[in-house]
Amino acid sequence: MKKIKVKGGNILIGDVHISGMKNAALPILFACILNKGVNVLYNLPPVSDIALSLEILEALGAKVTNNIDGSVVLDTSGVRSEAAPYEYVSRMRGSSYLIGAMLARFGEARVGMPGGCDFGDRPIDQHIKGFVSLGASISFIDGVLCAQADDGLVGSKVYLDMPSVGATANIIIASVFAKGTTEIMNAAREPHIVDLANFLNRCGADIRGAGTETVRIRGVRELHPCRYSISPDMIEAGTYMVAVATAGGCVNIKNVVPKHLEAISEKLIEMGVDVEVFEDSVTVTSSGKFRGVSVKTWTYPGLATDMQPQFGAMFCYAEGVSTVKEFIYEGRFKYLNELMKMGATISLDGTTARFMGGLPLEGCAVEASDLRAGAALVIAALAAKGTTEIGGVEYIERGYHDLEGKLAALGADISIIDI
Ligand code: EPU
Repeated sequence: MKKIKVKGGNILIGDVHISGMKNAALPILFACILNKGVNVLYNLPPVSDIALSLEILEALGAKVTNNIDGSVVLDTSGVRSEAAPYEYVSRMRGSSYLIGAMLARFGEARVGMPGGCDFGDRPIDQHIKGFVSLGASISFIDGVLCAQADDGLVGSKVYLDMPSVGATANIIIASVFAKGTTEIMNAAREPHIVDLANFLNRCGADIRGAGTETVRIRGVRELHPCRYSISPDMIEAGTYMVAVATAGGCVNIKNVVPKHLEAISEKLIEMGVDVEVFEDSVTVTSSGKFRGVSVKTWTYPGLATDMQPQFGAMFCYAEGVSTVKEFIYEGRFKYLNELMKMGATISLDGTTARFMGGLPLEGCAVEASDLRAGAALVIAALAAKGTTEIGGVEYIERGYHDLEGKLAALGADISIIDI
């Protein structure tokens, strides 16, 4: 079993390069099923959720080749209409995109219920609502979702109950070949959606309005494969921004879209941290001393729920009281117990956490309960007294490429240990 070992107290100095956005790469990989050909994808993050997605695609008949320059060739011409292996799809939320992709290409899909990080109930009722309104019939047989549209899908209006990232992406994918026009209202506006739409449009789709609350998809007859570079990962970038702010130091975070980071930058500035914005990088400079604030998680362009635990770790070290109100996932607070093991004083009332900052944390053995919880514990450990050993490394590896290597290059005393 692997653990991440961090000896706290070092400031972070230097440059860090951000990988491609995991949550954009996932729908794009499955959307490649639609274009039945040889795609070349650049800037795919080498993280385990992407490796698992490629394994699922290979199990369905796709061919994957890794180029020396880091790009990945994905040939989807041989993809077969069959059920995806349950042991794979049950491990990853992103596998839900198989439903939209298989339905669009074959008029049928059989996919085990997707898994993913556990922070409470994560239904896919809005995805299903979209498929049904496009004319698919849905049934569940032995835990497998079966979607059927023998005569193909037909464009329709879909009003989402909430701006779900997954449902918006899945309905876009499903409707690319639907007859007529599909209109998704109350759509998610995250950069992941814009990246997916840009990829599909590059392949010949007709998608307008991605990044706004109404996305219109005019069905086309076919797509062609393409070369595409995935946008940088705003959450990986944000994680390094908060890490530097918490540990102190000065780091230039490279290969980012600064616009995607505005909510994070503004919150750090409000706390007294210096953030300088360049064309495709941001520099964060921090003395390691900062004020407590309150944050509310929201859909883009609000502060992403995927940054909530990292800010929670930082709040343990802030002067005064900070509060976090979590609006997206009520169960995303499991990491608080681990921070309290390190000495943090935190109270939780429903979906609001209150951090009494300014007290030193002490390193100890803690366990990551999900991907971002793991990142939060690493951040807490960077500024803690003594040594922290963080278990649950497999969660961190789902979404961060070489977190320990990148932090070590910035001066952190961090390593992976086998126990
Ligand atoms: N929801 C429903 N019904 C649905 C879909 C969503 O009730 O059919 C609810 C969810 O339970 C949640 C809210 O709507 O309360 C938002 O969920 P959303 O669908 O937007 O999330 P997701 O697509 O399942 C993606 C990311 C998550 C990220 C969220 C929110 C992927 C693979 N996952 O999940 O990323 O937290 O959007 O931005 O894209 C992570 O990377 O750590 C991560 C968990």
